[in-house]
Amino acid sequence: MKLWGGRFETGPSEVFERFSGSLDFDRRLLDADIEGSIAFARALERVGILSAPEREQLTQAFESIRADHAKPGFFDGATDEDVHTLVIRLLNERAGGVAAKIHTGRSRNEQVSLDTRLWLRAEIDRTATLLRGLMTALVERAKADPKAVVPGYTHLRRAQAVLWPHYLLAYFEMFSRDHERLMQARARANVLPLGSGALAGSGFPFDRPAIARELGFDTISRNSMDVSGDRDFALDFLYAASTVMLHLSRLAEDWILYSSDEFGWLDLADGVTSGSSLMPQKKNPDSLELIRGKCGRVFGAFTSLFVTMKGLPMTYNRDMQEDKEPLFEAADQLSRSLEMARAVVETTRLKPERPAAAAEESWLVATDIAEALARAGMPFHQSHQLAGRLVLESLKRGKRPTEWTPEELAQFAPELTPEIAALLNPSEGMKTRNVPGGAGPEAVAEALRQAEERLAAMGAGA
Ligand code: ARG
Repeated sequence: MKLWGGRFETGPSEVFERFSGSLDFDRRLLDADIEGSIAFARALERVGILSAPEREQLTQAFESIRADHAKPGFFDGATDEDVHTLVIRLLNERAGGVAAKIHTGRSRNEQVSLDTRLWLRAEIDRTATLLRGLMTALVERAKADPKAVVPGYTHLRRAQAVLWPHYLLAYFEMFSRDHERLMQARARANVLPLGSGALAGSGFPFDRPAIARELGFDTISRNSMDVSGDRDFALDFLYAASTVMLHLSRLAEDWILYSSDEFGWLDLADGVTSGSSLMPQKKNPDSLELIRGKCGRVFGAFTSLFVTMKGLPMTYNRDMQEDKEPLFEAADQLSRSLEMARAVVETTRLKPERPAAAAEESWLVATDIAEALARAGMPFHQSHQLAGRLVLESLKRGKRPTEWTPEELAQFAPELTPEIAALLNPSEGMKTRNVPGGAGPEAVAEALRQAEERLAAMGAGA
């Protein structure tokens, strides 16, 4: 069946039907379509289009479709134009003549917006739970090695020593902002479009706030034309999803490096790595590489819908049907990547000796020394210069920082007092950086405590 046809003399050509049909993908909206339709039937009853028994009859038919949908093979042989048409066809088969009233004052343009919003809202909730799960795993990793010292990098060159938990909490912060972005996307999606009609508002006096309440929407849309032509709620999600993937890809890249023989900091569990078909010794970080790789698909989805929407004339255009596949694709890749990342974080072990040795052998303490001299009264440009000369001299003599004795140091420059000499040990230097947000042990312990508190306030991860 078709939801239109009166003004046509012939049906659509086979090639057009094949080209324009969306059931293959928008079938994922079926449960949302039914939820929205049941609420809409109640709205029709309130405006007197449906009697109470008619509404009940339709609701039961919707429920039976929903129940059958849970069974395998539900879509077998279906050739409907889209999921909305399929539901109406089944409604006709199950509820008879009264089904013909269900589209009174409702357009598919608002329906598709409604369904997508309902689906997306649930998807965002699921994703946010997975994200909190990953954040919990990061906090647990941080608590497992509270004192481990690692080099922090800029330009991928050893820069200053930090605590391993400080590094992990940097990702916690990125994911925490991602969580905010997901919640913002949720708020933008959580707006009731029904009542907008095709573009110009429905000709029936629906109690829109009542429908919104029934469907759990925070508010109702303010402009019917906007509803029909807008997909930026979907773009908001795609952007938020892309940012999560971006952060995941950076974590993945770090851990691919850190688990290499060259770094040797991390042991990835057997369960998240694979071997080589040729080289028997290999243990490859495929899980992390795939997380990094899937970024392309999610960014692609964002770009795809962004470009699809560009330059569309007001209001609905069929181009907008192309929103769903990118949306589903991004949501799927994101949730799978989050699950994978959590499993990697939970099972990876830090081998603290290697990064600690790396932190000691390079001049990560140079900044601490320059700052200590400045605290003792030397203008920073001079103390920077002096610490730089000390580094140069050490390199010439082939000496590590901790190999300098206090006497040798005092000989090199009398300003290098024993208190300053103590800072040649990276763990000591770090203690000067207890500024809030800093890498000092007290600041990090406080940040870790706050992170746990913030997680608890966000609701539990799955
Ligand atoms: N399958 C369509 C979509 O996803 C539903 C809306 C159809 N509306 C229309 N005017 N052809 O966009």
